[in-house]
Amino acid sequence: MRIGVLTGGGDCGGLNAAIRAVVIRAARAGHTVVGVRDGWAGMVEGRGAELTVTEVAGIVGLGGTILGSSRTNPDKKPDGMERVRQTFQALGLDALVAIGGDDTLSVAAKLAARGLPVVGVPKTMDNDVNGTDSCIGFETAVERVMEACDNLRTTADSHHRILVLEVMGRAAGWVATEGGLAGGADAILVPEERSTLADVAHHLTHRRDAGYASSIVVVAEGAEIAGLELAEAGGQVDAFGHAQLVTRALGERLAERLGTLTGIEARAMVLGHLQRGGPPSAFDRVLGARLGAAAVDLILAGQYGKAPVLRGMTIVPVDLAETVAVNRTVDLDLYHLAASLTVPV
Ligand code: F6P
Repeated sequence: MRIGVLTGGGDCGGLNAAIRAVVIRAARAGHTVVGVRDGWAGMVEGRGAELTVTEVAGIVGLGGTILGSSRTNPDKKPDGMERVRQTFQALGLDALVAIGGDDTLSVAAKLAARGLPVVGVPKTMDNDVNGTDSCIGFETAVERVMEACDNLRTTADSHHRILVLEVMGRAAGWVATEGGLAGGADAILVPEERSTLADVAHHLTHRRDAGYASSIVVVAEGAEIAGLELAEAGGQVDAFGHAQLVTRALGERLAERLGTLTGIEARAMVLGHLQRGGPPSAFDRVLGARLGAAAVDLILAGQYGKAPVLRGMTIVPVDLAETVAVNRTVDLDLYHLAASLTVPV
């Protein structure tokens, strides 16, 4: 067989481990892998080349994706889906592994529904793909947030400041919740639970009065905070209709207002793409390897229209349609635990 592999959407830690696993698993079974360039753009434009075992040696520790990525939606391009079908033939593909988040997987699900031999692999630092306990890239992002909290604490303590750390995640508060919990944040604000500016200010004032030198506030870029005016999300809207949430200037505005309300000096930091770049965590390398290998196994078993996902400690196949049925928002029990561990009581 000739098995195509692509990575679509925002890059994240662990993608190269998945690509490597696809190539090696396929090669061991006597099959060839074709690396498709830049996500669905490569399938629309017919860009891909054979990817050998030698080429994927030593890439597990690399961030990003050696195949390149894009936020291309073939369904929004003239004849886009038909061109994907033509590229299948032009590259001589018998099957395709699409590694991506809900946008990339939604295209994969549509192609599978039209009879193309496609399987998906869930990746996104947002961790909002339905049906899996974790997506490739999430753990790496959590570690970046944790490290940022650790580093911000020493400077915040030294200057007796509030430090607001804005993190990614779109409409899901997973990165903020787990990153904030791991980093010992003093307030965690997520899209799934509406906070009020007055409550946050009160909590931070209380902390200062109780003698704590600093406060770290981790806020998810998609959070809504009652009493806080934000800019409209703008920037370049991508092919799946997403505006850039960072343009709301949430972290900056929150720090400014908290500073005024509490009388404590406040600063903001947008962690941004540092959450996605650099060496992947061990967890994401292992998850990438397991899911990449499992995707090839599904193909070899003729199980198309599926994606391997993590359930507990086990990898199981689910229908691609299930992975994109809803946006998986944060586990509220976990969020409430994280929120309850911010002191003082
Ligand atoms: O979906 C992944 C993500 O990192 C989101 O958390 C974030 O809002 C968005 O991508 C940023 O996109 P870009 O890389 O286009 O700035």
